[in-house]
Amino acid sequence: MHTIKSRLDVIVSEAMSQASGMAAEEINAQVIYATRPEFGDYQANGVMAIAKRLGKKPRDLAQEVVDAIPGNDLIAKLEIAGPGFINITLADEWLNKQASEYRIAPSNLIARLDSPQTIVVDYSSPNLAKEMHVGHLRGTIIGDAIVRIQSALGNNVIRQNHVGDWGTQFGMLIAHLESLGNQEASRSLADLEVFYREAKQRFDSEPEFAETARSYVVKLQQGDPACLEAWQRFIDESLGHCQAVYDQLGVALTQDDIRAESFYNSDLPVIIEDLRKEKLLTEDDGANCVFLDEFKGKDGSPLPVIVQKRDGGYLYATTDLAAIRFRGKELKADRILYVVDARQSLHFQQVFAVAHKAGFVSDNCELTHIAYGTMMGEDGKPFKTRSGDTVKLRDLLDESVRRAFDLVTEKNPDLAEEERHKIAKTVGIAAVKYSDLSKNRTSDYIFDWRTMLSFDGNTAPYLLYAFARIQSVIRRLAQEGVEPGNDITVTADAERRLVLKISQFSEVLQQMGKDCYPNQLCQYLYELSGTFMKFYESCPILKAEPAQQASRLGVAALTAEVLKQGLNLLGIEPLHKM
Ligand code: ARG
Repeated sequence: MHTIKSRLDVIVSEAMSQASGMAAEEINAQVIYATRPEFGDYQANGVMAIAKRLGKKPRDLAQEVVDAIPGNDLIAKLEIAGPGFINITLADEWLNKQASEYRIAPSNLIARLDSPQTIVVDYSSPNLAKEMHVGHLRGTIIGDAIVRIQSALGNNVIRQNHVGDWGTQFGMLIAHLESLGNQEASRSLADLEVFYREAKQRFDSEPEFAETARSYVVKLQQGDPACLEAWQRFIDESLGHCQAVYDQLGVALTQDDIRAESFYNSDLPVIIEDLRKEKLLTEDDGANCVFLDEFKGKDGSPLPVIVQKRDGGYLYATTDLAAIRFRGKELKADRILYVVDARQSLHFQQVFAVAHKAGFVSDNCELTHIAYGTMMGEDGKPFKTRSGDTVKLRDLLDESVRRAFDLVTEKNPDLAEEERHKIAKTVGIAAVKYSDLSKNRTSDYIFDWRTMLSFDGNTAPYLLYAFARIQSVIRRLAQEGVEPGNDITVTADAERRLVLKISQFSEVLQQMGKDCYPNQLCQYLYELSGTFMKFYESCPILKAEPAQQASRLGVAALTAEVLKQGLNLLGIEPLHKM
């Protein structure tokens, strides 16, 4: 299905091809939003580049292009401006028709892709040795938003939670677990942070314990049943903790999405053998490495990807190579997205390069690291508690809900307490998620309670409030027997702008499908709410005469629908009352 932009692109490119004699594939119409409202709604900037190639005057060519555009229902006016821009104004009639269609079939607000793909999204992926902490927040919610958006566009999305459940730490953890009585173990496992600290302390101070822990690592690798059983107990416990956080956050991950590192254990020797067969393996000081020309250290010396240590142990990269192969061959991915901290960027560049070289995935499988920056405290350093400990995710979320409760109480003291708790739960979680999603994901950002819980600016409370406000207008008119209409006729500029903005929802989503920046959707929803507020101020609904009232209420209801769908794509469920 098409967006306005994609339709304009086709119309203008065809005319450009006709006017220039060039093949349509060679042409980029460069359709963008108008840089100023007085220029119209969109503009096509592609003429200049082509005129240069043909040695023609850009404005002359622009005129020929405009002449070659056949009459159509979408465009009302074309104007040539500046050195050869084509300004495009859409037809009000078309906007009316589009809005009416959306009213009847709200699911059409999101245009499905013509050629959907199978997309594997690797996200959240915590290490299970410890509790989930704030460092896992970004990956978990950015990944979740990406998953929701890719699915809404019609792609076949497969979630993969690549949890770290293997490695030397687990020897220490199960040795500690074994040494505790059953009851003591249950108590201690209730807080994995404490459990880990206890185990680590013993490992560092009790030589006998350290010895046992090391032997358990080996036993675990050999598949010793008793060790495996203790390990499984620990893993189940830790996964339970993760699931509680996912549920609290409202992210879509479940136990079915877990494909842990240990899943790939038996594949690891095969990966080494295959790299050997491909003649990619080099022995370096007893370790097995892959050297690729494109990776050099600072001093220009070759930078190896180590895939097997001297002692025969495998590494993080080896598991990732096995995972890539599985995702390509078994899950049949066209595209694999890794939503992981930006600090792992070299790791992924290397793994992707080796995987392609070794033929573990086909050349047309697109591998992308969806990198994100670090969440900082107000002091500009990575977010910590006052005493310098990492902040547990569940504590952070609890605090946000508590703060939201105070806020709701302040704003709405007469609401029943139960109701206020319900609202606070939504607002508190939404505030944390939205403040993160609304930042450009590649930058670091400062976590700040005050702004995220503010009712002003690009925040969750602001958007939730905009939605609830529209609902209250709808409720109020419903009492007078007025329903939002399906026949939309725009009469005022602010109304037209709002309908245009609504019709651009799809374009924003398609762009996000390509480059996976959820902040684009946040920015759009924020602008949409602002456009609505202007409409609401300048186009009276409550006092309008009946036909206009129904139409305007219809536009308001449509705005609410886009807000709801948009917030849902960010993993936020809006409230009807606030
Ligand atoms: N468990 C890793 C960590 O906490 C992240 C894993 C990301 N996914 C991957 N396929 N390497 O750093």
